[in-house]
Amino acid sequence: QDRTQPARSSVGSVIPTTRLDIMSEAVAADPWPTLRALREQGPVVWHETYGRWLVTTDRAVRKVATNFARFTVEGTVVEEMFGADAFISMDDRRRHDDLRNVWAEAFRKQGLDRLRPAVERIVAGLMAPVAARLNDGEAVDLSQTLCRPIPTLVIALLMGVPDEALPDIVRWSDAMAAGGTTYLSETEAARARIAREAAKQGLADYLLALIAARRVRPGDDLVSVLVHAPAGAALPDDQLVQNLRQLLFAGNETTAKWLAHIFVTYGERGDTRRALVADRTLIPPANDEVMRWQGVVGTIVRRVRGGPIELAGVELADGAALTCLLAAANRDPDRYDDPDRFDLHRPARPNLGFGVGFHNCLGSVLAKMEAEIGVNALLDAEPDYAVAAPYAYSSVPMRGPMPVV
Ligand code: HEM
Repeated sequence: QDRTQPARSSVGSVIPTTRLDIMSEAVAADPWPTLRALREQGPVVWHETYGRWLVTTDRAVRKVATNFARFTVEGTVVEEMFGADAFISMDDRRRHDDLRNVWAEAFRKQGLDRLRPAVERIVAGLMAPVAARLNDGEAVDLSQTLCRPIPTLVIALLMGVPDEALPDIVRWSDAMAAGGTTYLSETEAARARIAREAAKQGLADYLLALIAARRVRPGDDLVSVLVHAPAGAALPDDQLVQNLRQLLFAGNETTAKWLAHIFVTYGERGDTRRALVADRTLIPPANDEVMRWQGVVGTIVRRVRGGPIELAGVELADGAALTCLLAAANRDPDRYDDPDRFDLHRPARPNLGFGVGFHNCLGSVLAKMEAEIGVNALLDAEPDYAVAAPYAYSSVPMRGPMPVV
């Protein structure tokens, strides 16, 4: 990491700096005043202890994420987590697009229309016992009964992972997520790294066996489509593994946390909930507003490549590390009026919750479908639900409400 802070910007003004530990659990409960203060310091702020630049506004984040030639993913924690052959880690546009297109095509073949009834079945199956307990007046932990299992079961369905392997898949993807983008103490970071490597290996072994099985006996799942892709698009096994692992990791915890934000938001806002019950077409835009207002992936990371570059008047050295604060940018007053307010009827403007640029989220349509179906099912089961227990938040890079145990 580049820990030398330039004192002045290219236009001669003093560069704003901070030492605030914005990634801590303490800030996570209510990060908004801290993020606002940072944004007000400037679009680009030097973090003295992280040794990284923080990018705080909608405009500056979009500039970074769409200039893939100069702001790269290679050499960041993303590559370390996912592997260099996963397309989320690739900067070479051609290589990335060739690979992503194979996957996008496989997604398309799976067909979101075909998936919808399957997702509805999964959600209905999980909701039935929840509804029975809610109707009995019991308090139910929705994070364990709905938020966690919905995305796992959906991705497993997509990939054709059999039910008995699901607990392992959840365990591996949790361990892979631990400490990935947060800033832990050295000991914690080392422990998380060891657990992450073991989980990656466990998952890789499992996926290799699944790939081998689908080669011999294909089904109609994503793995079979990919394994039997036409010669030009066929991928070697290790690339398949890295990219399948990327989907599990990218799609599980993120969607679980978004669902949790959504359920909490509507549980605490009677007016919103009643409006959604009365007009179900409001659910998708309301879910988008939760994404803007709360967000899940609060940070994405990049590195400067190809020489120094100016960003919002600040000159960044070659190799400098950047953290784009999607969470701060999604409450940027230059883009959103009264940004700290949850507004069901806010004019639609794409927010940064699913990223932007050529690494934008491949699974956003799927996640949105899961959220829409999940909310509809919960409102059918209990239109008058409320949040009964206290909750805490995981930290800004992957933020969501979780029950206090
Ligand atoms: C990329 C967020 C669900 C697969 C991304 C990025 C963000 C994001 C912010 C950009 C990362 C960057 O620029 O460095 C989310 C959120 C989700 C979600 C908030 C749920 C609420 C999913 C699902 C899948 C998925 C369900 C797949 C089943 C991917 C993949 C990429 C990605 C493959 C990399 C795309 C590329 O590099 O071309 N996601 N995601 N995500 N996401 Fe998601």
